[in-house]
Amino acid sequence: MTTETETIILPDSESMALKAREWLIERCREAILARGQCIVALSGGSTPKRLYELLAELPVNAIDWSKVVLLWGDERDVGEEHPDSNFRMVRLALLDRLQGVSPKFFPIPCGKMTASQAADDYEKTLRRLAVDGNLKIDVVFLGLGDDAHTASLFPETSALTVKDRWVVANEVPKLKTTRITLTEPIINNAHHVAFLVCGDNKRWALDKIQGSERDPNLYPSQLVRPAGKLWWFLDRAAANQ
Ligand code: 6PG
Repeated sequence: MTTETETIILPDSESMALKAREWLIERCREAILARGQCIVALSGGSTPKRLYELLAELPVNAIDWSKVVLLWGDERDVGEEHPDSNFRMVRLALLDRLQGVSPKFFPIPCGKMTASQAADDYEKTLRRLAVDGNLKIDVVFLGLGDDAHTASLFPETSALTVKDRWVVANEVPKLKTTRITLTEPIINNAHHVAFLVCGDNKRWALDKIQGSERDPNLYPSQLVRPAGKLWWFLDRAAANQ
């Protein structure tokens, strides 16, 4: 079954973030109308930060934040105040800047327990959000590493083949650390998965993902084939235009 896919190429990272913001407003409206809420899994890393900042600058009624539930697609094994924390990045860019409104948000509880315990805890959090044991996240934002990883699904790591969990602790030898990450099953169960990719340093990874050589163990982003729709938001540098 081929995945419905749409690629949107913007001149630069700022116009890409603005377009992604416009797109998310629509996805939230659709989800809230259809299901009464919009569950969004946020990507970490640096690319989506500008999108989060722009979301905080929207007029109050652009998104009904009271009906938005924020999750994280992955997290580093550090506390919430650590500079590497993806939660901290979102808190500073978005949560602390929303005036008078707040989404529900569920950070991955790293830093308070072991990585494995944090993954187990987050699995329970997601299971509580599920309906009849099924969780279809409305929007999963993903970044793309220059090695073709996404979330914390890094090449040649154990999380790539996990089918019976939605969240795992994943040892990443190349980073000499353990990350907590959503797994392929929960990502691919989403209504919409949107990659946000900027910069010419991502071209190699994009070529590998969109090329004919299929090897998800080496190019993990190839695993992302959602039941819903797959979106690529690229700037011209990443798209090699
Ligand atoms: C993380 C992200 C990771 C990121 C890519 C791209 O926790 O770092 O989940 O998958 O999206 O590494 O990172 P940049 O956006 O910084 O290039």
